[in-house]
Amino acid sequence: MSGSRNIVVLTGAGISAESGVDTFRDEGGIWSQVRLEDVATPEGFAADPVRVQSFYNARRAQLPLVEPNPAHFALARLEREFEGSVMIVTQNIDDLHERAGSQKVIHMHGELKKALCCACKKSFPHESDLSLEEACPKCGQVGTLRPDVVWFGEMPYQMDRIYDLLRHCDLFLSVGTSGNVYPAAQFVQEAGQHGAHTIEINLEPSLGVSDFEDTRHGKAGELLPIFVDELLTGSYHF
Ligand code: OAD
Repeated sequence: MSGSRNIVVLTGAGISAESGVDTFRDEGGIWSQVRLEDVATPEGFAADPVRVQSFYNARRAQLPLVEPNPAHFALARLEREFEGSVMIVTQNIDDLHERAGSQKVIHMHGELKKALCCACKKSFPHESDLSLEEACPKCGQVGTLRPDVVWFGEMPYQMDRIYDLLRHCDLFLSVGTSGNVYPAAQFVQEAGQHGAHTIEINLEPSLGVSDFEDTRHGKAGELLPIFVDELLTGSYHF
């Protein structure tokens, strides 16, 4: 295997499911518990900021109670041992990739453990609950902090860099995402059109399954360690 090969891995909520983090659209998932419009749009935040802060405070408080699973560890191993480059682009706002040891992670939908000031637009680490009584440590204004997560209607982070990676990768691997949300749902086409081999690993066929050249359906925690072994031994050809 040549040392110059590039792998881009797109991950979604399904990779954290076996860690005990709810997905969004599976039965009983987050969007069956709360309305997306209420907690994941700028309009929802404007209408009821306390509800939105509480929703993300609860999700942030869950993080110390969950652990990375074998799927996260397999990707960290791939980054460490693969001769080429491995970049994770995650839609997840949890920190499980980093805690498994991955270092090259782009959080395109933001991070639970960061806050964003609506006044000065600065982002900074924030591991405790957010409240409207709090002052921004950067500009001093009170009541301007929100979770640094991307909501529907907002532009995901680092899109130029992500498209550049997609255009220059040799393998595009999608793990644990239903393919409902754009632009991530379109990454497979972008990578495929630029010559990458494309594979989906997901519990069930995603909406975009027909865009992938190869698919494996089942639990990421079971399938990904096997797939990473194949990549590292060179027995999977792409
Ligand atoms: P979804 O909940 O839409 O999809 C999760 C996918 O993971 C489904 O296709 C499941 O079949 C699959 N899955 C569940 N358990 C799995 C397992 N153990 N192994 C492998 N796959 C499994 O979540 P996302 O596609 O990540 O955005 O959702 C994308 C975005 O929609 C999220 O980032 C979030 C949400 O609204 C925002 O809030 C902006």
